[in-house]
Amino acid sequence: MQFPEYRGRRLRKNDHFRRLIRETRLSVDDLVYPLFAVSGRDIKKPIASMPGQFQLSVDHLVKEARAAFELGIPAILLFGIPAKKDEQGTGAFAADGIVQQAVKKIKHELPDLLIVTDVCLCEYTSHGHCGIIEKGKVLNDETIEVLAETALSQAKAGADMVAPSAMMDGQIAAIREALDENGFEDLPIMAYSAKYASAFYGPFREAAQSAPQFGDRKAYQMDPSNADEAIREISLDVNEGADIIMVKPALPYLDIICRAKQEFDLPLAAYNVSGEYAMIKAAAKQGWLDEEKAMMESVTAIKRAGADILITYWAKDLAKCLAGR
Ligand code: PBG
Repeated sequence: MQFPEYRGRRLRKNDHFRRLIRETRLSVDDLVYPLFAVSGRDIKKPIASMPGQFQLSVDHLVKEARAAFELGIPAILLFGIPAKKDEQGTGAFAADGIVQQAVKKIKHELPDLLIVTDVCLCEYTSHGHCGIIEKGKVLNDETIEVLAETALSQAKAGADMVAPSAMMDGQIAAIREALDENGFEDLPIMAYSAKYASAFYGPFREAAQSAPQFGDRKAYQMDPSNADEAIREISLDVNEGADIIMVKPALPYLDIICRAKQEFDLPLAAYNVSGEYAMIKAAAKQGWLDEEKAMMESVTAIKRAGADILITYWAKDLAKCLAGR
């Protein structure tokens, strides 16, 4: 194929042709909307680095979840900010913990909305690490027991799916076992399989007040330089029983999304993280780029790379744009 027999512009000349040959289509069905639950009443606290996102007390969470549901978004992903943090992160698995309360209430009000819960300790520990600490080190095998207990308590509260994000070895197997032993063999796990130690989580750490108080997360989250290792991490999770695999962040890791889609036959989620959202919001506020177009291009790219499921703070805006087409 070559010019002048082939002219790519023939099929690009107007919107009808462009629609006809479009390869990637976004749908509201793909979206998962992350939300932050805080204890208290009537709290809707804006997150400065994530314009349009809030820390919400349960009463407001129900409203926000309903708005998402009415827009046709199939699922929310819940994070919790407990009233008190401690060394062991006990708020993560307390029967009346913030996420457990939120799940119960939202499930009661909106039984058909899928509730996914983040399973991690960083929001609940005073030191901000994703696990149990001893002598400055995050212990793996002790942590996965606590993660399993956390997932189980979320399941008991009524979560539809759990999403472990701590990047501890063996966490999926530990959680699967705890769920199965307690009659939750039907509850799926969405595994944050390839989660990188990323600077793009900055705004989230403000949102969840979960920045590590010492050191960093490089001893458990992945080195951004590595791709083969991501494939190893994903295979481990698949073998341990993950139902959905995830790559996180999304935009700087489209190559990983693309490889994961080719190498595994499980549904693949991509997390369009807080920093990816904040960058565009900030530039748009300056008038430096068009937010809606940049949002659409970002999520289209993530889908084109191979993601089946998009976890994004733009879920509501996207649902509205898609409905308006
Ligand atoms: C950890 C967790 C993080 C995010 C989701 N789960 C932060 C981290 O690892 O520091 C980040 C999400 C985002 O940046 O939007 N529980």
